[in-house]
Amino acid sequence: MKRNHYAETVFMSKVSLHQVAKFYDNYHAVQDISLDIPDNAFVVLVGPSGCGKSTTLRMIAGLEDISRGEIRIGDRVVNQLPPAERDIAMVFQNYALYPHMTVRQNIAFGLKQRRLPAAEIARRIDNIAKLLNIETLLDRKPRNMSGGQRQRVAMGRAMVRSPAVFLFDEPLSNLDASLRVRMRTEIKRLHQAVPTTTIYVTHDQTEAMTLADIVVVMNGGRIEQYGPPQQLYHSPDTRFVAGFIGSPAMNFFPATLTLTEGTPTIMLAGDIRLPLLTAHFPADLQVGKPLTVGIRPEHWTLSGDDNACLQVTVDVVEPLGQETLVYFRHGGEDYCVRLDASFDGAPGETLKLYPCRDKIHLFDLESGLRLLID
Ligand SMILES: Nc1ncnc2c1ncn2[C@@H]1O[C@H](COP(=O)(O)OP(=O)(O)OP(=O)(O)O)[C@@H](O)[C@H]1O
Ligand SMILES: [Mg+2]
Repeated sequence: MKRNHYAETVFMSKVSLHQVAKFYDNYHAVQDISLDIPDNAFVVLVGPSGCGKSTTLRMIAGLEDISRGEIRIGDRVVNQLPPAERDIAMVFQNYALYPHMTVRQNIAFGLKQRRLPAAEIARRIDNIAKLLNIETLLDRKPRNMSGGQRQRVAMGRAMVRSPAVFLFDEPLSNLDASLRVRMRTEIKRLHQAVPTTTIYVTHDQTEAMTLADIVVVMNGGRIEQYGPPQQLYHSPDTRFVAGFIGSPAMNFFPATLTLTEGTPTIMLAGDIRLPLLTAHFPADLQVGKPLTVGIRPEHWTLSGDDNACLQVTVDVVEPLGQETLVYFRHGGEDYCVRLDASFDGAPGETLKLYPCRDKIHLFDLESGLRLLID
């Protein structure tokens, strides 16, 4: 048993899912997912709409029955436990504060139900209000506050209970863009100050990357890949993960693998040759194999080896201040490169783009799986 700095008792709170599935009638919304979440980790479930994120979170919370499998929180199997006995606190997209109660009453509500002494309730509210910077709002009603302030109160109401696990379902999606970025940092700071196992759902990959110790990418009810943010960015296991993580998204080109005078070479559409670096030969090199080549927008330069460059016509230029995004079309597809802010090309101009050859990703065209490098 440990104590966190504001002196509530915290239990060991690993969360593990073992082959957990959810059927709605015949629809397989979550397909046998297994995941071990270490104590105090911040885990983000991310993926496109309908991929099963909320369903997974609601099964952990006990708001949704599981069709098969096992969920553990700490050392207990919680499959049959009602939400109130799982020692979790959940924050939703619509904060669902009680409109007729003040902030103080909203935060105190759950503690009163648990019949904590008044002095203890007051002490906890003081601590949380300081932590969340809402001390001056305690006597206000929710309708007299901004979205960001309401969001803090909703978090306060969850945190004051000192649960073993926090569950968040898109808690920032009702906020405007700048407030969302501020609250994101705030949530990360809070987790650093009061480490608690947290499972956070979002469809926004930037939110996932910035908050998570471990990002879990879901797709069609399955886990595509999970790992630290940098690992997903540098070594995506599948084309889906490669395209989902990173903004602007990775560029994909159809290609085949050939040998040019003994050197494995990627042939992009339009007869463009990209000789592979020795270190990047696929382990199961098959000449003629159809591939998808992935190159991130940030992995191109404007000079290099003329035998390995793509000549394109500039379509759109977006100067962002610190960098410039340049869009072009190739083989009927739209692509984007991220260039230095000093780039001063204009639409219609011809541009030679040189991919960083040590940053190229290769995927099997059919399966979408990454071709493993020796
Ligand atoms: N009560 C229900 N009955 C039938 N199907 C459901 C039910 N709840 C969810 N689904 C389906 O299960 C799938 C997963 O839904 P879920 O809400 O988990 O997606 P999500 O990843 O949270 O998506 P979003 O980003 O849109 O919130 C979806 O196809 C959805 O239509
Ligand atoms: Mg959802």
